[in-house]
Amino acid sequence: MAEGCVVVVGGTRGLGLAVARHYAGRGREVVLAGRDQRRAEAVAAEVGGKTSGLGLDLARPEELADRLAGVGRVAHLVLAAIDRDENTVRGFDLDSATRLVTLKLVGSTEVVHRLLPRMDPEASVVLFGGRAKDRPYPGSTMVSTVNGGVAGLTSSLAVELAPIRCNAIHPGIVGDSPYWAAKGEPVLERYRNQTPSGRLTTMADVVGAVVFLLENRSVTGVNLYVDAGWLLR
Ligand SMILES: NC(=O)c1ccc[n+]([C@@H]2O[C@H](COP(=O)([O-])OP(=O)(O)OC[C@H]3O[C@@H](n4cnc5c(N)ncnc54)[C@H](OP(=O)(O)O)[C@@H]3O)[C@@H](O)[C@H]2O)c1
Repeated sequence: MAEGCVVVVGGTRGLGLAVARHYAGRGREVVLAGRDQRRAEAVAAEVGGKTSGLGLDLARPEELADRLAGVGRVAHLVLAAIDRDENTVRGFDLDSATRLVTLKLVGSTEVVHRLLPRMDPEASVVLFGGRAKDRPYPGSTMVSTVNGGVAGLTSSLAVELAPIRCNAIHPGIVGDSPYWAAKGEPVLERYRNQTPSGRLTTMADVVGAVVFLLENRSVTGVNLYVDAGWLLR
């Protein structure tokens, strides 16, 4: 097992928080990060165990070296943050597009760059992309774009960081995640009807897949689709 803590950027909510809870529940030291220091600390206190909160903004990559200065040895790094914009090419919002690309691709890479000296050869990284790269929805222009970028970044990091491993998870619609659950039953039912099993991916499914990607020593450079077969129908 790799030495050090589990860092989850985007760990204050949703899928990142579920991963943080998993490792805290197993007695690991966890650092969960979101934009606001106080909020991150409050969530960390609620998770309990050996969990601490860290405020950092991936959309401000020039600040990340300082923000990460207090983090010690890192065993596993999970980059799960997202600040979804509702963008289209016809109504293109330049500021929100730039913010999302910066946080998801540049900010995430800067975090890896800064934490790399604190990782031993057994360490691993998981990036979060998503199936919007293959099945765009209205407003997903930049989400689809950065999800594609995550796939390319994963391949590059798997080569550049070796023997440290890097993989990506691309979930489908995670029905019990806060983002999708808030859209309500009629919307979820529509997506359920699009999967072969008639069920949607769950948060627990995603956590299990992230743990596999982080811990299986033969898995690197994989872009894993955890989507209940969404695109098969
Ligand atoms: N939910 C799904 O069904 C689904 C499907 C496919 C892919 N995904 C992907 O899975 C990942 C997690 O999704 P989610 O639904 O769990 O997201 P979420 O519930 O919206 O949570 C997003 C997290 O990112 C943090 N964050 C936002 N902007 C940030 C910034 N600039 N710097 C640092 N942290 C920031 C938020 O923390 P603060 O608000 O505290 O800053 C929060 O912890 C994302 O990459 C998403 O694209 C999710």
